[in-house]
Amino acid sequence: MNVTIVAATSREDAVSAQMARFYQQVLSEQGVKANILDLKDIPSNILETTLYRKVKLPNEAWDKMQDLVSATEKFVFIIPEYNGSFPGILKVWVDAMKFPVSFKHKKACMLGIADGTQGSAMAMSHFADVLNYVGVHTMALRPRFIHIGKYVRDGQLYNDEYWQFMRLQAEQFVAF
Ligand SMILES: Cc1cc2nc3c(=O)[nH]c(=O)nc-3n(C[C@H](O)[C@H](O)[C@H](O)COP(=O)(O)O)c2cc1C
Repeated sequence: MNVTIVAATSREDAVSAQMARFYQQVLSEQGVKANILDLKDIPSNILETTLYRKVKLPNEAWDKMQDLVSATEKFVFIIPEYNGSFPGILKVWVDAMKFPVSFKHKKACMLGIADGTQGSAMAMSHFADVLNYVGVHTMALRPRFIHIGKYVRDGQLYNDEYWQFMRLQAEQFVAF
């Protein structure tokens, strides 16, 4: 099973990227070796080379990302809440990826994180519409980790309940 965990922001030192590593650890405990795709690695020249261009220009970094996505069967999306929704860069990434090879008939689950009290609930709901539109089947269980900044420090996640939720979701996701 080819699984990719997407850290869905390009923000420097994002908690989402750290959560992707925790999730990778949980999947590895369940015998699944997952890739991590950090949207921070989207090449900054994507507007001039790729996005919405009729004739695309060479972009090796983007092509590498595209190859990983094309080969992925199941995605885990770590969705941070930005202004009541998911980060704009995530939609740019979806828009720039090839269709249908990137998403159609694939599967995904989502985990929301936020400093506030909604835990990305609306963000995940918004993104589920986008995923379903491009043909991705989404899993029902969507954990919401609130006040995330309080619990992630020094590269560690200090919240036993959040670890339990990740394990539960990962278990369902492997079977999904
Ligand atoms: C542009 C921006 C908008 C944000 N909007 C919200 C928000 O609407 N609600 C919320 O609870 N936190 C919000 N946050 C805080 C994030 O939830 C917080 O940074 C959290 O750590 C997850 O994002 P990260 O992966 O960028 O670290 C926002 C952060 C940024 C950078």
